[in-house]
Amino acid sequence: MPALLSVEDVTRRFGGILALDGVSFALEEGQIGGLIGPNGAGKTTAFNVITRLYPADSGRVLFDGENLLRSPAHKVVSHGIARTFQNVALFAHMTVLENVLVGAHARTGFRGEAKAQAEALETLAYLDLAELAHRAAGGLPFGTLKRIELARALVSRPRLLLLDEPAGGLNHEEVDELQGVIRRIRADHSLTVLLVEHHMNLVMSVSDRVHVLNFGRKIAEGTPAEVRANPEVIEAYLGSDDVAEPETTALALEVEGDDGAP
Ligand SMILES: Nc1ncnc2c1ncn2[C@@H]1O[C@H](COP(=O)(O)OP(=O)(O)O)[C@@H](O)[C@H]1O
Ligand SMILES: [Mg+2]
Repeated sequence: MPALLSVEDVTRRFGGILALDGVSFALEEGQIGGLIGPNGAGKTTAFNVITRLYPADSGRVLFDGENLLRSPAHKVVSHGIARTFQNVALFAHMTVLENVLVGAHARTGFRGEAKAQAEALETLAYLDLAELAHRAAGGLPFGTLKRIELARALVSRPRLLLLDEPAGGLNHEEVDELQGVIRRIRADHSLTVLLVEHHMNLVMSVSDRVHVLNFGRKIAEGTPAEVRANPEVIEAYLGSDDVAEPETTALALEVEGDDGAP
């Protein structure tokens, strides 16, 4: 099957820093791909190149066979690509509904306002945000803001959804919920998802395939089990403090198994 997204030999420098150094990876339609690596590895830069916020110095990004780097940056949404940001980027003074309408308008323009409103409300309901529609976004809890950003991305009906650390700053319960939400949106919208995450339990449980960056280079790719067992990945990343949930599950199980001990 041809890949829906194919990042080919992409390089991006910032001054003397090689944020991406000949990076290649591909995602098949319907896949959830994980993109992991230590802080500064180039994950967000990869998103910024794919969504055309930053130009690449060299390389190609094919989406459905077309080189995205050759088409105008403002066409990214109409190609069917949407994203959320590592640092939530919502309009604080606008209501939740108005924020999500930004995503609806990105697809429909300003024609058919009633339809855009209906779709925005439907998406809010789908993500259990309907009650907050008329509240200002500013001041809502961080986990809620992340979910509103997800609604804004989803309402543009993407084929490819890029999620940049969606679990960052969420509590345990919210991370569990997010896991369900990611699975549900893939199933309900036949989406392809690229997920940047430091929560290993989350990324390893939802990803079909995981790609690992370190200092701008791709050092590994494979199934979650293959990547977890890869010594180079453990050395560069999995053994480091950048990982959000180091073996929490194993610890929890040990504690549970301890009952009855004197
Ligand atoms: N706009 C920018 N200007 C200068 N340097 C940047 C910029 N964006 C990213 N970088 C640098 O590129 C490298 C990769 O950053 P980033 O892609 O944000 O990493 P990650 O998301 O994996 O933590 C880092 O060294 C970072 O400082
Ligand atoms: Mg980042």
